[in-house]
Amino acid sequence: MVQLTLPKNSQIKQGKVWEKPQGAKNLAEYKIYRYDPDTGENPRVDTFYVDRDDCGPMVLDGLIWIKNKVDSTLTFRRSCREGICGSCAMNIDGANTLACTKGMDDIKGTVKIYPLPHMPVVKDLVPDLTRFYAQHASIQPYLKTVTAKPEKEWRQSREDRAKLDGLYECILCACCSTSCPSYWWVGDRYLGPAVLLQAYRWLIDSRDEATGERLDDLEDPFRLYRCHTILNCAKTCPKGLNPAKAIAEIKKMMIERQL
Ligand code: SF4
Ligand code: SF4
Ligand code: FES
Repeated sequence: MVQLTLPKNSQIKQGKVWEKPQGAKNLAEYKIYRYDPDTGENPRVDTFYVDRDDCGPMVLDGLIWIKNKVDSTLTFRRSCREGICGSCAMNIDGANTLACTKGMDDIKGTVKIYPLPHMPVVKDLVPDLTRFYAQHASIQPYLKTVTAKPEKEWRQSREDRAKLDGLYECILCACCSTSCPSYWWVGDRYLGPAVLLQAYRWLIDSRDEATGERLDDLEDPFRLYRCHTILNCAKTCPKGLNPAKAIAEIKKMMIERQL
């Protein structure tokens, strides 16, 4: 029989159960993934009790309450608290989403929180997004032109501007890429849904003059063609975007330029 050896620190242990806040009548139970690579210990899942009468309604409010009142070492990212910066992306109740826009009331029972899946963990709920950002930089996410600069601004018709709807709203939270099975397995070579949606955003921009160069860069069996239309990306996107559609549009552009 084949013997499989689990990677070091892959087993998650039962963690600490923290005390309930005294006198609290309205409690939410949180089970939170904890991991500190500096200790050399395995990850664990700690249980906390949040006094809902003493904190805001969102999952992120509960995390902040725990950090302020129970365990200041709990580590997570957040900034805007209104679904704009993308930094509070994590796996909540089994799905990748933003902690600041997910209501505690939307979850039945215990609030289970893990970091975004299949990424190295820096600490607790903080994934290492170095590769994700490098992939984003690799598609040159800015306007590229060859004609002389206009005196005032690069103009765009209303119709052409409308083509960016459903793309420009992406906040690069990485919820989609880290829910994509193809990205889990070959994320070192496949660009993944978030970065490909961004690539399409520049391909379709009427002001950009590097379309051919951009398509050449994506014409690769791994960078683009690992999408198998499983649609996890569209299902999980907290901004309601559809990266799979953007990927299909890029593939269409690839075919059209050969005709
Ligand atoms: S497409 Fe949606 S899920 Fe993906 S990075 Fe952008 S906002 Fe996040
Ligand atoms: S549709 Fe494509 S990009 Fe989206 S989750 Fe599936 S394989 Fe990944
Ligand atoms: S804190 Fe900015 S998106 Fe949640």
